[in-house]
Amino acid sequence: MANLWKPDSWRGYPIRQVPDYPNQDKLSLVEAELSALPPLVFAGEARRLRQQLADVADGKAFLLQGGDCAESFSDFSANSIRDSFKVLLQMAVVLTFGASCPVVKVGRMAGQFAKPRSEPVEIKGDIELPSYRGDIINDINFEASDRDPDPNRMIRAYNQSASTLNLIRAFAQGGFADLHQVHQWNLDFVADNPASDQYEALAQRIDEALGFLKACGITGDAVQQMRETDFYTSHEALLLCYEEALTRQDSLTGDWFDTSAHMVWIGDRTRDPEEAHVEYMRGIHNPIGIKCGPTSDPDTLLSLLDVLNPMNDPGRITLISRMGHELVEKHLPTLIRAVQREGAKVVWSSDPMHGNTIKSTSGYKTRPFDHILSEVRQVFAIHQGEGSYAGGIHIEMTGQNVTECLGGAQAIDDDSLSQRYHTQCDPRLNASQALEMAFLLAEELKMLRTECKK
Ligand code: PEP
Ligand code: CO
Repeated sequence: MANLWKPDSWRGYPIRQVPDYPNQDKLSLVEAELSALPPLVFAGEARRLRQQLADVADGKAFLLQGGDCAESFSDFSANSIRDSFKVLLQMAVVLTFGASCPVVKVGRMAGQFAKPRSEPVEIKGDIELPSYRGDIINDINFEASDRDPDPNRMIRAYNQSASTLNLIRAFAQGGFADLHQVHQWNLDFVADNPASDQYEALAQRIDEALGFLKACGITGDAVQQMRETDFYTSHEALLLCYEEALTRQDSLTGDWFDTSAHMVWIGDRTRDPEEAHVEYMRGIHNPIGIKCGPTSDPDTLLSLLDVLNPMNDPGRITLISRMGHELVEKHLPTLIRAVQREGAKVVWSSDPMHGNTIKSTSGYKTRPFDHILSEVRQVFAIHQGEGSYAGGIHIEMTGQNVTECLGGAQAIDDDSLSQRYHTQCDPRLNASQALEMAFLLAEELKMLRTECKK
């Protein structure tokens, strides 16, 4: 990589997964318009997340990252944002209380629009059209005119991200995330899941603890952490012209930040150290994630770490392994060992979704909940065996009562997938499955932390 980095230096590198905009003049106009719009997040917030992730890298906290596979323009409502936020709060409280572990909360929200695709085209019958690449690029509708990339969609994605973020900030700081509200976060349709009773029991104990603290004179009025929470946003930095337009220099330090989200990650298909996505990421100071799939090899991973984190700053890099339940045992240990040999400080997070996607008999893209849990359990065990810390989870989930992943306490089977299969892209855990997952994680984490203290 050349040394001189600029927000647009990625343009001189080979690039994958980019849309072919038919009208370049229109694209330039939109880029100029976006460059003049206010930042969505501030450098100080991204720095704060980096510090909190440094605690995760150090084994003192846990990273919970989750949200839609792809946000969409059509399924955009205050209720769906609120419900996803509720489930993430529930998961966080289960982990914090169940495992006595601080949780860093990051949504795949307020900007998760662009999607990498395995195939550049989609074929139905004898019609071949460009693949859908996320609402920020084209439309999911299978019509030629809808599949043309349209730069104006970037402005709409920016505006939707701004409103989403506005609501998230209000939820996080305006009383909704107050620990005294812990019962209100449980969603009605989760009620028949045993995890819901488990959650109610936990909420009851939190109530008692809060009552005790109040009697001691400690209340939410005095302790900000009891009435507010830190909540951050993240997405895959795939559409680099959009990310570039929102890249701004921090007036305090002179450092560059991608102000479209607090954290951004590089996908499994675009993490080549010689290519554009890595070139862009190396110059921004946000915390960044790197997806590591079964084709990640230790040498390339180490050269990526050299390029992206030359000062070995903890909190800068989150390695998100997504191997699949059948391959994790084979591939993860080698990567962990390479990172350890190098003394690289990273957060290790597990994405148990993307390596476990299958096609159901009825033709739906789905993920068996058992396979997802199996990968998570294996990841915890492998890290423990290697003397490393499984510090986070990265999931696709929603607060809506969808039927997209098979299994869980509701025992969603192949026939029920069609009932409420709403995802724009990959199948998500519903609130009930996400809560079950949180209890499993809390158990694993609690065991780990008890072991460490011995
Ligand atoms: C994603 O996180 O939505 C995604 C496409 O993941 P990956 O790059 O790991 O396939
Ligand atoms: Co996905």
